[in-house]
Amino acid sequence: MATVRAVVFDAYGTLLDFATASERAGDVLGERWRAFSDLWRRKQLEYTWLRSLMRRHVDFWQVTGESLDYALQAFAIRDPELRGRLMNLYLHLEAYPDVRPTLEALRADGLQLAVLSNGSSGMLDAGIRNARLDELLDIVLSVDEVAVYKPAPEVYAMAARQLDILPGEIGFVSANGWDAHGASAFGFRVAWCNRTGAPPDRLPGAPETEIRSLSEVPDFFAR
Ligand code: LAC
Repeated sequence: MATVRAVVFDAYGTLLDFATASERAGDVLGERWRAFSDLWRRKQLEYTWLRSLMRRHVDFWQVTGESLDYALQAFAIRDPELRGRLMNLYLHLEAYPDVRPTLEALRADGLQLAVLSNGSSGMLDAGIRNARLDELLDIVLSVDEVAVYKPAPEVYAMAARQLDILPGEIGFVSANGWDAHGASAFGFRVAWCNRTGAPPDRLPGAPETEIRSLSEVPDFFAR
């Protein structure tokens, strides 16, 4: 098996905890914040897949806003101020506690580190900078360039092209099972970080390993 030369991470749900946006608006959302966050996220992902099938791409910032509008209406919340606040919070998400030590360990091993995300360049740059992860990453890749969402193979191909290495030399880490399968089906070596103890997705591709925390990544991709 090829040696991993770069480790590529998914962003939302893997590095950045999207639930922290709704949690921080808990003063308005109350106990419903987690159910609200789950619906917002589910619709956000659905819209990426549906738009890719419809071939009507718009960037992830717009999708994030439109899925937020859906969630607000589903929860019968009419509050334009809250909408603006949640969108702003989405640019200030907290990194999971296992992110920084993992990136530092991988860097110390001399591996190239990248992000490959559905996020638009603007929101990714802001989110990664605000979580103070920018100094630990070599390159942040957005699907903006290919105008289609993961798990379309064009997205993973774009990453291999940009990094100028073979798919089999890329170690890919995602907490999203469908993304882990998509990347594996394309030819990346994949670690699925199953943060929530979800059952495995029944999709093409086979992640090489299932881990519970990013702290297991350095050992797995060690050279
Ligand atoms: C991303 C989404 C899938 O960052 O979480 O690409």
